[in-house]
Amino acid sequence: NWNMTNFVNDQIELVRRQVGDRKVLLALSGGVDSSVVAALLLKAIGNNLVCVHVNHGLMRKGESEDVVEMFGNQLKANLIYVDVTDRFLTKLEGVEDPEQKRKIIGGEFIRVFEEEARKLDGIDFLGQGTIYPDIVESGTKTAKMVKSHHNVGGLPEDLQFELVEPLRQLFKDEVRACGLELGLPYEMVYRQPFPGPGLGVRCLGAITRDRLEAVRESDAILREEFQLAGLDKKVWQYFTVVPDFKSVGVRDNARSFEWPVIIRAVNTIDAMTATIEQVEWPVLMKITDRILKEVKHVNRVCYDMSPKPNATIEWE
Ligand code: XMP
Repeated sequence: NWNMTNFVNDQIELVRRQVGDRKVLLALSGGVDSSVVAALLLKAIGNNLVCVHVNHGLMRKGESEDVVEMFGNQLKANLIYVDVTDRFLTKLEGVEDPEQKRKIIGGEFIRVFEEEARKLDGIDFLGQGTIYPDIVESGTKTAKMVKSHHNVGGLPEDLQFELVEPLRQLFKDEVRACGLELGLPYEMVYRQPFPGPGLGVRCLGAITRDRLEAVRESDAILREEFQLAGLDKKVWQYFTVVPDFKSVGVRDNARSFEWPVIIRAVNTIDAMTATIEQVEWPVLMKITDRILKEVKHVNRVCYDMSPKPNATIEWE
């Protein structure tokens, strides 16, 4: 009979059988999927799990620090922290196409891991937090491709790692249940999902440092205010987007020409379809007010009313 306790025990057993006493390298972004897979692998193989947290410069505010605190300091996992912000931003300079951006981010990720693996010596496996919707939406024999989620696509032909993907049968809500089963704290397991390409697909078009900063700061404000309003426990995914066009406004009695920030807040079960959250007007007004006051180079805030379909959850 299928239940989460059995699933976790089975997967731990399967991982042990697959890996033996060899080593697994895991990309630990700190999102729900990679955190849960890290906890599972940690339980299965302990210090033969080597977690690498890549700060690609597209993380949310404070996120890399949180990963180091939780997995390095608290859970005592074998954790390597790499800051490759400049390398990623340089590679992405001038690249406008969303799929191209995903390919570059995914490709650089793999290269960083290969480099880390070579430094470490004796890594045979690559752990991944791939979940069922990633596989379906990235295009299998039957499903039509929507977006190439980078945690499935983009692996080079000569990749010397065998994959360990214990969550690949699970939908998102099951991944969370799995995390709780493994003893991860509620706040971590019920954290909203964050795409692999990070803020890179929320800083629309060619990424620039000023707009990336605007996405990061406005996202931090949105998260703070959603928490104050109790919406962080209710809304599935919420974030801000900064497009690559400006609009005219006024600042200090003079004409301004600056970026807009778009707020997105959606609910879904499995990320295949989504509805928007009907956020209370005063909450939206307070967020708008703070963004306009606190975020540089922004003069306008909009709320995205579009369900999936016809929109997708992310803008790219
Ligand atoms: P869309 O935008 O396709 O997003 O409706 C569905 C869910 O997937 C997340 N997402 C990604 N996750 N790599 C990821 O790991 C990606 O490239 C990617 N693109 C979208 C998105 O945040 C939403 O939860």
